[in-house]
Amino acid sequence: MRIDIVSIFVDYFAPLDLSLLGKARAGGLIDVHLHDLRTWTDDVHRTVDDSPYGGGPGMVMRAEPWWAALEAVTGEPGPAARPRIVVPTPSGRRFDQKLATELAAEPWLVFCCGRYEGIDARVIEAWADDEVSLGDYVLAGGEVATLVMVEAVTRLLPGVLGNAESARDDSFSGPGEQLLEPPVYTRPPEIAGRSVPPVLLSGDHGAIARWRDEQSRLRTAERRPDLLA
Ligand code: ADE
Repeated sequence: MRIDIVSIFVDYFAPLDLSLLGKARAGGLIDVHLHDLRTWTDDVHRTVDDSPYGGGPGMVMRAEPWWAALEAVTGEPGPAARPRIVVPTPSGRRFDQKLATELAAEPWLVFCCGRYEGIDARVIEAWADDEVSLGDYVLAGGEVATLVMVEAVTRLLPGVLGNAESARDDSFSGPGEQLLEPPVYTRPPEIAGRSVPPVLLSGDHGAIARWRDEQSRLRTAERRPDLLA
């Protein structure tokens, strides 16, 4: 999968060199291209923002650099005729595991990281395939949201996770029911007076599977009843 990210703070993406993602990049499973939006400004101050038409607080990201950036990036020879273009914004549709799975099937994604009050709406209209929100809170810009989405999407790609089963067993991953994962334990069997549930030490795989399923249901009912509804 090819991933292009356009931002005025490309340093935000240093974590893409670490851990699973770093390995996936080094191993050629994902091909990440970072672009500084200011590359496509033409004034000495490399201005990317301007005041909003109609007045109001804050600044708006100018259409021209975004237009030039998207023309340049989408015009590069990529693994598809055209990438899927994603704009993180609190006014987008909610990001969830289903959308992560859908994006993981794309050969080429472009993330456009807005700052300030957002990107000129004509850029979004003309270019964006998806406007996506991580949740009902406001971040300082699209960079962290992009990191979240890139991690959620790329860990679904074949070969990125060490254990091929771990993604399938995740919370929210089931084809039908969406249950939270049960609690997990490792050695020692007791710490500070707290013991591992005995069934997990029983060696009875049927009983363990039933216990995990029951724990998933209890947790989901208690913490996320909306998932059961
Ligand atoms: N940019 C700012 N806030 C955001 C959010 N909640 N989700 C996605 N992108 C954002």
